[in-house]
Amino acid sequence: MALRSRNWFGRKGKDGFIYRAWMKNQGIPDFEFDGKPIIGICNTWSELTPCNAHFRQLAESVKRGILEAGGFPVEFPVMSLGETLMKPTAMLYRNLASMDVEESIRANPIDGVVLLCGCDKTTPSLVMGACSVDIPTIVVSGGPMLTGKYKGKSIGTSDVWRFHDDVREGKLDESELRNIEASMCRSNGTCAVMGTASSMACMVEALGLSLPENAAIPAADSRRKVLAQLSGNRIVEMVREDVRLSDILTPKAFENAITVNAAIGGSTNFVIHLLAIAGRIGVSLDLEDFNRISANVPLIVNLQPSGKYFMEDLFYAGGLPAVLKELQNYLHVDCITVNGKTLGENFEGAENNDKDVIAEVINPFNNSTGLAILTGNLCENGAVIKPSAASDHLMKHKGKAVVFENIEDFKARIDSDELEVDKDSVLVLKNVGPKGYPGMPEVGNMGIPKKLLRQGVKDMVRISDGRMSGTAFGTVVLHVSPEAAVGGNFSVIQNGDVIILDIPNRSLTVDLSDEELNERKRKKEAQPLVADRGYVSLYVNNVQQAHLGADMDFLVGKSGDEVPRDSH
Ligand code: FES
Repeated sequence: MALRSRNWFGRKGKDGFIYRAWMKNQGIPDFEFDGKPIIGICNTWSELTPCNAHFRQLAESVKRGILEAGGFPVEFPVMSLGETLMKPTAMLYRNLASMDVEESIRANPIDGVVLLCGCDKTTPSLVMGACSVDIPTIVVSGGPMLTGKYKGKSIGTSDVWRFHDDVREGKLDESELRNIEASMCRSNGTCAVMGTASSMACMVEALGLSLPENAAIPAADSRRKVLAQLSGNRIVEMVREDVRLSDILTPKAFENAITVNAAIGGSTNFVIHLLAIAGRIGVSLDLEDFNRISANVPLIVNLQPSGKYFMEDLFYAGGLPAVLKELQNYLHVDCITVNGKTLGENFEGAENNDKDVIAEVINPFNNSTGLAILTGNLCENGAVIKPSAASDHLMKHKGKAVVFENIEDFKARIDSDELEVDKDSVLVLKNVGPKGYPGMPEVGNMGIPKKLLRQGVKDMVRISDGRMSGTAFGTVVLHVSPEAAVGGNFSVIQNGDVIILDIPNRSLTVDLSDEELNERKRKKEAQPLVADRGYVSLYVNNVQQAHLGADMDFLVGKSGDEVPRDSH
């Protein structure tokens, strides 16, 4: 096949001279430009993204693999989104990072690309950007952290919410919390539970975008480097075979990813990211597809936050290949993957070594599926819940709304003894959606009011137009669309309105007539959107609603791999 990079390095005269000469200042001999596939290593290494801080070493393994296979590696940085440090929320920048990835690949002499990603938003942003170019691409995830250990107990990110409640109740003091910090994050890698990062790593493996085993090998395990090297080998072959993202990302591949996410109890954020990826590659996908495909998928992976184990345990139990093998009757096993084999061929030799971690389909560890889409007059365009992480007694619930107009309002009043709330109330948080916040932060798993915590209440129905961390749990309805900031029924919910949640029937309603809702909307003043300048202004004016994946309208689809004009 004709290499894209020959439009740079294969040129004669002044242009070819300029393209090659400045590369040679890195000490690169002439033969490296002699028709070898040029492989970009798109690296989200950053000390401000601690989950990806080991990526320099991982990139070295990828490079070794590329060189071995006869390609030439060129590593380049892109915007890295650190989930824990970025304010106001890393999600605000997912689309910006995806633009960086798309344009960095398109503008440069790259024939194939290896995406190094790990922390939550780094995976969807890189995959989205690469989809819009659609050259041969393989994903190498950074791998999860080792399981945290504290006083003989295994701990992970999902426990942070429990520790937080213990501090609020006075059961835990700050100095002990400091000790726990170090015990939980004791190695490189992403959160050790089935949070968003792990769900994204499972997503890319289920889609066929990575080599088998990519999802679960711990970051600290030497086999992670082996996988990186083998991925370097393989991307060179993919360029020679011209296997592109669009060859792998078929509608059936998306259905496989949805099935897997339901079976692993994956993050609710998976929904928003998969919709955005589908939009980039041109596959038609909507919220109803998630219900249709997930409905009968049993939850078989017993990991926090839906269960009790950790990613390290999943790896020892057989990793995602063993999960896929258990799920084979629910999957399109003929989907082609990056290694040229089908998904079915990839899990053929897998073994389930621990049925407490990976249950059999006929004996799932939780009968509730991992994901459900709700509809009703409270969420005209849908909302998302994770039934597997919800409480049994709240699966069908009717209660009066306690409304917080924004996150500041929530923080100011939630622990007040004056707050009129009881265990049957429904907490409602508005204006934390894509446009309203802006950026749709992970605040949907609102803390339980202190006075109810003291009464022993551990869960309540909570509803918002925001997201929650994939590591969180509870009966939490998220991604209400349309969000409060753009009108819609959710924007006019008031204290005391009766809300009815019916998870088995996938419904979320408020006991108000259409006339009443329309009257309230008519009286409501339009809300000005907060966007002073720069990227945030671009985002607020163009971001789509959650049910469409919260991508920017002008980024949906592809620019393709066309070589840009010369400027010399
Ligand atoms: Fe990076 Fe959890 S904060 S993966």
